[in-house]
Amino acid sequence: MINSVEKLNERIATCTACLQDKLAGTDDKRHIVLCGGTGCLSNNSAEIRQRFIEVLKEKGVSDRATVNQVGCFGFCSQGPFVKIYPEDTLYRLVQIEDVEEIVESDIINNTVVERLLYEDPATGEKVSKQDDINFYKKQRRVALHGCGVINPENIDEALGYGAFQGLKRALSMSRQEVIDEVLASGLRGRGGAGFPSGRKWQFAYNSQSDEKYVVCNGDEGDPGAFMDRSILEGNPLAVIEGMMIAGYAIGAQNGYFYVRAEYPIAVNRLRIAIRQAKELGLLGKNILGTDFSFDCHLRLGAGAFVCGEETALLNSIEGKRGMPRPRPPFPAVKGLWGQPTIINNVETLACVPYILREGAQNFASVGTERSKGTKVFALGGKVNNVGLVEVPMGTTLRELIYDIGGGIPNGKKFKAIQTGGPSGGCLTEDFLDEPISATRAAASARPAGSVPSACWRF
Ligand SMILES: Cc1cc2nc3c(=O)[nH]c(=O)nc-3n(C[C@H](O)[C@H](O)[C@H](O)COP(=O)(O)O)c2cc1C
Repeated sequence: MINSVEKLNERIATCTACLQDKLAGTDDKRHIVLCGGTGCLSNNSAEIRQRFIEVLKEKGVSDRATVNQVGCFGFCSQGPFVKIYPEDTLYRLVQIEDVEEIVESDIINNTVVERLLYEDPATGEKVSKQDDINFYKKQRRVALHGCGVINPENIDEALGYGAFQGLKRALSMSRQEVIDEVLASGLRGRGGAGFPSGRKWQFAYNSQSDEKYVVCNGDEGDPGAFMDRSILEGNPLAVIEGMMIAGYAIGAQNGYFYVRAEYPIAVNRLRIAIRQAKELGLLGKNILGTDFSFDCHLRLGAGAFVCGEETALLNSIEGKRGMPRPRPPFPAVKGLWGQPTIINNVETLACVPYILREGAQNFASVGTERSKGTKVFALGGKVNNVGLVEVPMGTTLRELIYDIGGGIPNGKKFKAIQTGGPSGGCLTEDFLDEPISATRAAASARPAGSVPSACWRF
């Protein structure tokens, strides 16, 4: 049981050393990791993983390498991905038939399978490392922290990669100090409305009640959107930790995840993460020996778009028909079962541990005057590089489409981009050089500073 800060520190130290050993190869082994996101799994990455285990055995080299799954690498159109540590070699579009060759080259002969490396379309050069691929160069991972690096079903890997350090710091602060930190970070909700998260938390903190709730909105109803799903699949503990920090800040003891049932992998990993955190005593009574107790519950949505709207979502959790409630009263005053409740989007909560761990100033050093931090986008449609990206707020559409997205197939001319599902709009060429947040505001007539809606179709 991890029931004190000292025990958490000890476990973190062990897990960090273990993960570093793997990534840096100081344990004298190769570590083969495969993308375990929905996209790659539907392209056989689980079977490919199994084949690696078999081939290593067949060739008598099982002791030379481990095989593991991680969350989404982001570059979905090039999956399934296989990465080999410590060389950091990234193979893309890997098939079951390629496994034997990879084991022969990377594990036995210390060479590389050139044909499976990413090829830069502009220069024709082969690129062996993820960071050297254009798709990744302008990205910065905050909400996607740990995705594509850790095994989302192993709490020790999460602990080795920063998990619970934000909560640890939060519990050493007063509730008001935690809210002030989130206010200072400039974090705005990533669910679409862009409301400042710290202000929402302050309202709930100010509401007097013995019972309060935190709700995580994982409904993600916009067609083509998969940001929240990927975060939950890649690092569910980050969202749990964000929820716990929010719970501590407002004085809640229970949190509800509302995730659509069409996301079975995300739901399963969330279940595993909650169970593992409970087993270690990181969820439950008197967390880290403090008087803060918190439990997480999971509710599955049946896929009604309207249930993404926060008050309809509350009705749905309560077992009622998913219809919006009139506001005011706002949920921060009267929410779940009539008690003060904050509802935050998955990506919003995933940013919270980072803010507490690295500090508000660090988070706020990225982005624009009114939109701080980064934003995750699901790029889909007629763009060369389809996938999940996270960029600093203020990145222009042009950078997103051409530098990261690789432009439009067959060099066709840009016509428009459709953002944010049914409630979004279409942006034409005139908006290509606008920083992302301002673009969204201009296109949708939402207030300046509102957060760009995050699924983009071309
Ligand atoms: C019709 C409708 C659908 C919505 N769907 C979602 C959704 O799928 N996910 C989400 O986080 N927010 C959705 N929202 C916004 C939520 O009502 C709410 O603003 C958000 O969950 C608050 O979290 P945030 O402050 O972290 O953004 C939707 C809003 C409307 C009006």
